[in-house]
Amino acid sequence: MSSSRTAAPEPAEWTRGPVADLFSSYVATAALSAAEQLGILDQLAEHGEAPFGNGGDERLDDGVIRSIHRTLHWANVVEVKNDELVIPGALFDAAYAARGYIYWLVKGCGELFSTAPDVTSTKRRTGTFYHRDMRAVALGSRLIGEEEVEPLFDRVLADPPVEKVADLGCGSGQRLIRILGNHPGARGVGVDISHASVQLATESVDEAGLTDRITVLQGDVLALEPRPEFADVDTVTCVFMGHDFWPHDSCVRTLRRLRTAFPSARRLFICDVVRTTELPGRDTTIFTLGFEAVHALMGDYLPTYEQWHEAFEESGWECRSVQPSTAPPNGYLFELTPRTGE
Ligand SMILES: C[S@@+](CC[C@H](N)C(=O)[O-])C[C@H]1O[C@@H](n2cnc3c(N)ncnc32)[C@H](O)[C@@H]1O
Repeated sequence: MSSSRTAAPEPAEWTRGPVADLFSSYVATAALSAAEQLGILDQLAEHGEAPFGNGGDERLDDGVIRSIHRTLHWANVVEVKNDELVIPGALFDAAYAARGYIYWLVKGCGELFSTAPDVTSTKRRTGTFYHRDMRAVALGSRLIGEEEVEPLFDRVLADPPVEKVADLGCGSGQRLIRILGNHPGARGVGVDISHASVQLATESVDEAGLTDRITVLQGDVLALEPRPEFADVDTVTCVFMGHDFWPHDSCVRTLRRLRTAFPSARRLFICDVVRTTELPGRDTTIFTLGFEAVHALMGDYLPTYEQWHEAFEESGWECRSVQPSTAPPNGYLFELTPRTGE
């Protein structure tokens, strides 16, 4: 590292304040992600308090839990009282609502961010050049979808009722389970490329007692062929993975292929976050910088809202409606039906 600056500001000017807060925010984000996985956030949401430290639970290291609590106290997410008790702080409700984004970022994508300078080298960007924790990506995505996306799906899928649904890039499998809960006679099939996601979805389906009604398959959605499980699917859903169809020609090809793979599909729902084009600023929403940076690091193209519509024109599907979401920000649910005569 080199610098052309000659005079650094006095330490007193920068060891507290905005740059110090950037440093501490990173630590707090990691603490939030850990608190989510350890059940600390759920405990506070349910009971309104927790002991400071491990509370005598010897399975967890007392020093680590105290450190998480102290860091979240700094962030106003919790309040540590008299070194004995932890209660929700002023920002707890917002942090709890955002926990899926935080977990996706830290546990799901953290390793990729820490290796950013290495994977920037063009020589390194071939083969399997990065790693993400896909179980954490799927669990984070599930939480991200819970607030707005799932209730939106409940509404749009209510009529006509679903008889068989395929969920592409099914992640945790939660959407299939929810849809079948709303449509008691329905069946489902999930497809995901990641072994960790398929394993998680299979466990979730098993726990929900739905193994006789939901099949989970490992496969690449960009290369799906017709198969018996797909023949009678009337509804196809694809949430937070549509960007993997891109760039444009690959997206059009994939959408056309879905017509063949799912010959009885009456509706295809694609829900995804689109790329922003303006420079980030003070109003930049949660997720936006992380989502765009991670896909740049992975070398994945992200389409804008307009580019999705350009692809639909050539895809063999007609876009019937679009519903925006505020959580996640810049999210859209596109409802597509097969274009007649194509
Ligand atoms: C961000 S997660 C979303 C999971 C889930 N749809 C949800 O809404 O919670 C994206 C999922 O798509 C899967 N995926 C990515 N590319 C895929 C592909 N080409 N074929 C099948 N699955 C894919 C990933 O493994 C991951 O589980």
